[in-house]
Amino acid sequence: MTLYGVGLGPGDADLVTVRGRRVLESADVVYSPGRLSRSVATEHVPEDRIGDLDFPMTRDEDELRRAWKDAAEEIAPRARNGTAAFVTLGDPNVYSTFGHLRRTLSAFHSGVDVEVVPGVSAVTAFTTALGVEIAAGASIALHEAARGVSPTGPDRMILFKVTDVPATHDGLVEAGYDVVYGRRLYMDQGETVVTDDPDALSDRDYYTLAYAEKRGLDAEPATATFEAADPNPDSGSGVQTETDGGTPARAGDSLDAATLERAEGEACGDAVSGESR
Ligand SMILES: C[S@@+](CC[C@H](N)C(=O)[O-])C[C@H]1O[C@@H](n2cnc3c(N)ncnc32)[C@H](O)[C@@H]1O
Repeated sequence: MTLYGVGLGPGDADLVTVRGRRVLESADVVYSPGRLSRSVATEHVPEDRIGDLDFPMTRDEDELRRAWKDAAEEIAPRARNGTAAFVTLGDPNVYSTFGHLRRTLSAFHSGVDVEVVPGVSAVTAFTTALGVEIAAGASIALHEAARGVSPTGPDRMILFKVTDVPATHDGLVEAGYDVVYGRRLYMDQGETVVTDDPDALSDRDYYTLAYAEKRGLDAEPATATFEAADPNPDSGSGVQTETDGGTPARAGDSLDAATLERAEGEACGDAVSGESR
């Protein structure tokens, strides 16, 4: 029938989506590629429905291909005769092992249907954890920064696999970035740390990311002035979305499609041109 690739989110069991949980509960077998994803999955699935897969810790491509062929060999009959799930932390399609499995199945077991259930990715979860706002329209790049590497160039970067924080930090600061780090964000497993002090994270932990922003970026959103303007926030009437007649607006209130589209575009910060107001 189907293999579901299920994103588990960053690690807290209650950040699995409702759809992901439903799939896990109904799957005949749930494969997990690692200890951490297994520990999240077992919050939703009894141990006896978990199937473990062995992956060698290697960069040898032949060995990796062999491991994925073995994994696909194990999973394909279970997915053909029933429902199987393969879990990954975060989202299955973001910096994830799931792509290897999907490609291997499609090459050697093309009769297996594959569906993906997206998960809360560290790519977005870091914003709330680190107190960072990526304003609409801002560009941002993803990079790996393993073993002390310091990628540079883009104005804003999310860095994964920051395994040598002090060395990566030195390179970023020298290149003109402000950096904040997050370790084990939204994870049941281990202590969450958010800091801009590289020495607080001098030990290696794979589940560490960084957000780096070029110093001096001039990117004040229009509403930033409010933060300084009102010393007494209770003095006004509060923020309310109103229509022309002063009635609070509700989604779908007799708005035509073009108006709704424009409103949604504006809500994302898109400039909507060619429309009369
Ligand atoms: C191979 S990527 C997996 C990304 C995952 N598929 C996702 O969508 O979030 C692994 C890297 O993501 C980052 N990461 C994932 N989950 C994290 C978490 N809960 N806290 C901090 N960093 C995390 C770390 O930098 C880690 O080295």
